[in-house]
Amino acid sequence: MKIFSKQDLQNYELSLTYDDISLIPTQISEIRSRVEPITKTSFMGLELGLPVISSPMDSVTGNLMAKELTNSGCLGVVNRFDSSLQELTSSSAKTQGIKAVSIALNTPFSVIEQLAELNLIICIDTANANNKAVLQKCEEIKSKTKIKVMLGNIAHGATLRKLVDAGADSIRIGIGGGSVCTTSIQTGIGIGQVSSLLDVYFAREKDNLKIELIADGGIKSPGDVAKAIALGADVVMLGRMLAGTKETPGEVIKYNDQLWKKYRGSASFGVKMKNEFIEGEETMIPYKGVVKNVIDGISDGLRSSMSYMNCKTIEELRKINTFSILSNSSYLERLPKK
Ligand code: IMP
Repeated sequence: MKIFSKQDLQNYELSLTYDDISLIPTQISEIRSRVEPITKTSFMGLELGLPVISSPMDSVTGNLMAKELTNSGCLGVVNRFDSSLQELTSSSAKTQGIKAVSIALNTPFSVIEQLAELNLIICIDTANANNKAVLQKCEEIKSKTKIKVMLGNIAHGATLRKLVDAGADSIRIGIGGGSVCTTSIQTGIGIGQVSSLLDVYFAREKDNLKIELIADGGIKSPGDVAKAIALGADVVMLGRMLAGTKETPGEVIKYNDQLWKKYRGSASFGVKMKNEFIEGEETMIPYKGVVKNVIDGISDGLRSSMSYMNCKTIEELRKINTFSILSNSSYLERLPKK
């Protein structure tokens, strides 16, 4: 079996995603216990306890979720669809524990100035960062304020330098890979998440660009989080893994003797309330209880992965260069059987 480096995976003729690859431990680990690895990392000027941020979707991140994620050492990006943003700008006391928000392309500059005063990171939340209006908005914000800006999304590294030149501090990578995303079906656009991430990673390495990489979409398990970081991502952005928890906006619904919460794409009918350019699904997720349990599970999985891979820090995990590509049967063998 061939052991693939990041560069080998990048050169592979087919596009790959998380289920296609696996990490191979090739060293004697010096880590005695899974509590030893240090999962902290810095991201966009913040110190995080875990390289995990939440997606700015209306069924994932409101103010409550953002605060709880800060308490758990992660970062919540507050959505732009419900009243969360309005609540923030109308009372600065409410921003305590909230570090990042998303805006639309047409958000007035007066609101952006308020967000700058509150010292918040901004995510310009669009489906396609490779767009002139997005770059102009980013340039405008960067020239007039000291705000750190997250852009998204891209699926390939070809335009990375242009995004950096526009002032982007971080970039969400992934088009078509989100679990409630129908973009690829509607448009035929998109590449597997592993290949997308690697393409952008190598574009950054090649030109020594200063921009942080967010693996966004398609992450289903703590193992996928470990894979994304081992592929060089600075942080992962999660939608579905955090959906259905107590802190997400929206009600808990009892149906068929089971508790559920809604999870929907930002381009779904439920968010847009009109039948145009629908590229997102709406679904129900079994209620998961408090988000802290999910975060603890990710932390456990990541620490365990780091201990197998002999990585004491996230920085070391990002340097991993021993991957395998799984045959379909190898992938199926890895799944627990009932
Ligand atoms: P998940 O973690 O696999 O559920 O993916 C979450 C990501 O899906 C988000 O962070 C967005 O990048 C993406 N996304 C959210 N809503 C939509 C949509 O309506 N259409 C396409 N992609 C979406």
